[in-house]
Amino acid sequence: MQPKLLSLVCTVFLGLLVDDGLRSLAEAREFRLGTAVSMMPFRRDDQYKAILAREFNVIVGENCFKFDAIHPQRDRYEFRDADALVEFASANKMKIRGHTLIWHNQLPEWLKEGNLTRDEAIAALTNHIETVMGRYKGKIWAWDVVNEAIDQAGDPQHFREDSFWYKAIGPEYVTIAFEVARKADPGARLYYNDFDNEAKDEKSDAVYRLVSELNQRKLVDGVGWQMHISNAFKIGKEHRDNIRRLAALGLEVSITELDVRLKLPANRDALAKQARTYGDVMRFCLSEPNCKAIVLWGFTDMYSWVPQTFRGEGDALIFDRDYAPKPAYGAIRESLSKLTPGLSR
Ligand code: G3I
Repeated sequence: MQPKLLSLVCTVFLGLLVDDGLRSLAEAREFRLGTAVSMMPFRRDDQYKAILAREFNVIVGENCFKFDAIHPQRDRYEFRDADALVEFASANKMKIRGHTLIWHNQLPEWLKEGNLTRDEAIAALTNHIETVMGRYKGKIWAWDVVNEAIDQAGDPQHFREDSFWYKAIGPEYVTIAFEVARKADPGARLYYNDFDNEAKDEKSDAVYRLVSELNQRKLVDGVGWQMHISNAFKIGKEHRDNIRRLAALGLEVSITELDVRLKLPANRDALAKQARTYGDVMRFCLSEPNCKAIVLWGFTDMYSWVPQTFRGEGDALIFDRDYAPKPAYGAIRESLSKLTPGLSR
């Protein structure tokens, strides 16, 4: 039996035998598989933390790195939760993504209601990025420097106009944020993150123009595709065309917030279709060399943002509310197992 095939057989067999989760399969293939972390269960539920360490090699704070959580008052930062996650990642040899430095959502009152001048808003943006990135310098694998700045219905360049940052500074806030971030931690991967930007279309064209300009000044390293999708989603040529034009710029892509929501109550067919969708997205990312990671937006249906946002939908993740693996978990395992370990992707 050829050595590589023997290695694959052993890896799969050992994986089944010792059930050491998805993480060992991912790492044998130099792949990054992660999840967002909700701080309430992280602080109270040992089983939640055990699954994190067993199944994933990347984590990201669902909320604790956001502006309102980490910088609640102009002269006060709150690092407790972010510190705990950075420590957990280090102790468990995981990488950690920083989400997110500059976004139009989850901003503190002192910023939104502060009647800041343009210069004061630039100073606030600069101070925030320098302080937060400076504290975690060398510890954060990738930062979502700017999140969701592009909007189909935005200005002629499709910049989202209902953003505090756009109104206070103008569209230049994006470039300023990346300039400050590059100086604050030259070793971190700097990402532009957005939703509905995975297919080649008008929105992803606007994202492409934005990151092309940033890339000319070496201010960006990657594009985050959030991929909050429904069970109707299908991977197609429009996704491959989009990831390959970003690759041609030398940029990486990470799928940063994957979940596949179902209409409730979910039946067996819907769960089987969800598994196929997760498997298709995994195989797509594993087959594109510049696709560097898949991060789920949570791992158990017990803790997911979906039901509070999409009425009548949920069950979007790979473990059920009792932490039992769903068919989607098996589909991810199968797609990883089918790849020969160590083959550079
Ligand atoms: O912190 C307050 C707490 O003090 C208060 O008691 C509680 C009750 O109202 O609310 C808490 O804030 C909540 C926050 O999550 C932290 O738990 C907000 O109400 C709630 O709206 C917020 O939801 C988050 C949402 O972003 C906000 O836009 C979700 O958990 C989070 O999963 C979601 O994540 C975003 C990504 O950051 C960007 N991409 C889209 C994704 C889904 O919206």
